[in-house]
Amino acid sequence: MASKVTVIGTGNFGSTVAFILAMRGSCHEVVLRGRNINIAKGKALDMSQAANAAREHTIVRAAEGPEDMAGSEIVVITAGAPRTPGMNRDDLLLKNAKIVKNYALEIKEHAPNAIVIVVSNPLDVMTYVAYKYTGFPRERILGMAGILDAARMAHFIYEKLGYGAGQIRATVMGGHGDTMVPLPKFTTVAGVPIEDLFDSEEIGEIVRKTKNGGAQIVDLLGDGSAYYAPAKSTAVMVDAILKDTKQIHSCAVYLDGEYGYKNIVSGVPAMIGAKGVEQIIEMTLKTLQKTRFKNSVQSVQDLVNVLYASKFFDDLEKIDEK
Ligand code: LAC
Repeated sequence: MASKVTVIGTGNFGSTVAFILAMRGSCHEVVLRGRNINIAKGKALDMSQAANAAREHTIVRAAEGPEDMAGSEIVVITAGAPRTPGMNRDDLLLKNAKIVKNYALEIKEHAPNAIVIVVSNPLDVMTYVAYKYTGFPRERILGMAGILDAARMAHFIYEKLGYGAGQIRATVMGGHGDTMVPLPKFTTVAGVPIEDLFDSEEIGEIVRKTKNGGAQIVDLLGDGSAYYAPAKSTAVMVDAILKDTKQIHSCAVYLDGEYGYKNIVSGVPAMIGAKGVEQIIEMTLKTLQKTRFKNSVQSVQDLVNVLYASKFFDDLEKIDEK
């Protein structure tokens, strides 16, 4: 069966996701949907030609309108303003919530069977917005972040250790924000617990660097946020769905009782396959880990509450009646 992935947003992030998919021949067709159709067309042509250079079969096309999303197995929402220096991800809240709402409504209409991967920030809240406005079952709404945060943690471990690259399995739970929860106790290098490789001060430093990983790049770039690692992490999720790998990845999902939380999105280990989130894995957490996870969930809840208080969700009922 021909596979089609739509990427919404033609900025650095969206373009890089599309490019990685085209270079790997992950799907037959990638549709690029951006506000500026000429930019989308130019990038689509460039990437289709790159796919030929790579001897891959993927065609990249620009969407002329929302109807071009029809038939997509996966839609990736990257649209939204990125962070600039001094901003945290939460500063983007209302602006990006409106953008994600509009695209969620388009997806609901034009690609009603799609699995949606959200990468706009603040990530967990935007995933919640996409869940509410598509009305899709929660299996089909995923936020990307745990893979990225774990990759950053793995990088900082490798940087400090000087060996073990490619063998580091880092685990990060919770929201993709300042309260994310890196889990050193569940992090190993080829099965060796990092607690046998570092002292607690060194582990503390790795945790701090992981939490600050996005901001560090925002500061260095001076204009916009990271996109190579975020895009690769998104492509890993796309591949897991299209290839039905049923592997475990940490993703932002809508919780319905798992870990004791309901009606909120947070990052947890999930088994990903052709149906999207096929299973949420509940790990046994120690008291301190539970407290940190709770704080992280609460920080997402606080932002969701800001949206409710600003009447952002007031049109939901009307939309549901349609
Ligand atoms: C980051 C942005 C993409 O963490 O959230 O780099």
